[in-house]
Amino acid sequence: MKPLSETGRLVADSPTLAMGARLKKLKSEGKTVYDFTVGQPDFDTPEHIKQAAIEALKKGETGYTPAAGMPDLKKAIAAKFKKENGIDYSPDQIFVSNGAKHTLYHVFQMLAGPGDEVIIPAPYWVSYSEQVQMAGGTSVLVKAGSEQGFRVTAAQIEAAITNRTKALLVNSPSNPTGAVYTEQELRDICELAVSRGIYIVSDEIYEHFIYGGQKAVSPAAFGPAYKDAVITVNGVSKTYAMTGWRIGYAAGPVNVIRQAGFAQSNATGCPCSISQRAAQAAILGDQTCVANMVAEFDKRRIYMTERLNAMKVFSCDPPAGAFYCFPRCDALYGKRIGGVMVENSTALCEALLDKAGVGCVQGGPFGADECIRFSYATGMETIRKGMDAVEALVKGTA
Ligand SMILES: Cc1ncc(COP(=O)(O)O)c(C=O)c1O
Repeated sequence: MKPLSETGRLVADSPTLAMGARLKKLKSEGKTVYDFTVGQPDFDTPEHIKQAAIEALKKGETGYTPAAGMPDLKKAIAAKFKKENGIDYSPDQIFVSNGAKHTLYHVFQMLAGPGDEVIIPAPYWVSYSEQVQMAGGTSVLVKAGSEQGFRVTAAQIEAAITNRTKALLVNSPSNPTGAVYTEQELRDICELAVSRGIYIVSDEIYEHFIYGGQKAVSPAAFGPAYKDAVITVNGVSKTYAMTGWRIGYAAGPVNVIRQAGFAQSNATGCPCSISQRAAQAAILGDQTCVANMVAEFDKRRIYMTERLNAMKVFSCDPPAGAFYCFPRCDALYGKRIGGVMVENSTALCEALLDKAGVGCVQGGPFGADECIRFSYATGMETIRKGMDAVEALVKGTA
């Protein structure tokens, strides 16, 4: 047979999902495992959100909706942007799709074709570069290590801009590092893009998961020129423990949003009608459930950070946002752990999984092979026992 397309040949499985799948397999074989791989809250979707979905079903809202989302949901999203982010969007500037991952996919399809470059601060969420590649564009990774708090500087971004740069990705709070940019840092970086007509894709999916008093900042709120340049991406998965419902959305310049909606009309038709009603209830409803989850994550964040640092072979600052610890682990490279020689983050993750039943994700695909990612979006008991298992395995290697 003839070869697959370039995308067909090059696209890789998401390493976070791949590690999660390996772990599930071990679990199904009856092994004791501690899962720190996947970024999804361990909480159930709040009851009032489920009720809204049940109501929608009862009312027979089971048909296709407009391709870019139900008008009521878009209205709710517009109200959210105004209230929480200080940005005025009209419904034609909003586009709803099947999770923020899918939203980003369409956005990159609209922005980044062959010859276009997208600047991605690293460490970065693995799907950004895959999606840029699927669109035919080229990712330009700009690395910020732990010594600079995993936050790139404006000078680094400036050095990466070329006349092919089409978009700059910002993700604060960040997956995998938990880094949160200050408003001034974001302004300095985004100004470089806006002044050159470069789009900014701002992935704000973790905006509610910020600890220690820092505030979420939306670049689109920086002024009219920013509103024309920024595509703000968000969704209900993380904020409301709704990962399986698959609702994400973007807001931005009308031409980008309209074209993304057209693409969706040809690709998936529309997002799930029932999930859209649930998302509407989530966004408009009582937000106490969010505050409760964030308070719980905060405790786990501190606990996990302390446990990792106490082992000496890992080092990380408490993450300022999201729900991941991303410790440096390269003190272990070149050493034997459980009889296995560890040379890189992949070998370390495999040793942790095979010898301690601990699932985490290697830093290499995130652009930082000196680190590994532990999600603390899992119960305290799992964190306690999982950290005990890691400690027992690495004991004596410090
Ligand atoms: C940084 C980031 N953006 C977007 C997403 C996608 O979220 P969803 O597609 O569930 O809305 C994730 C999920 O892990 C993420 O970590």
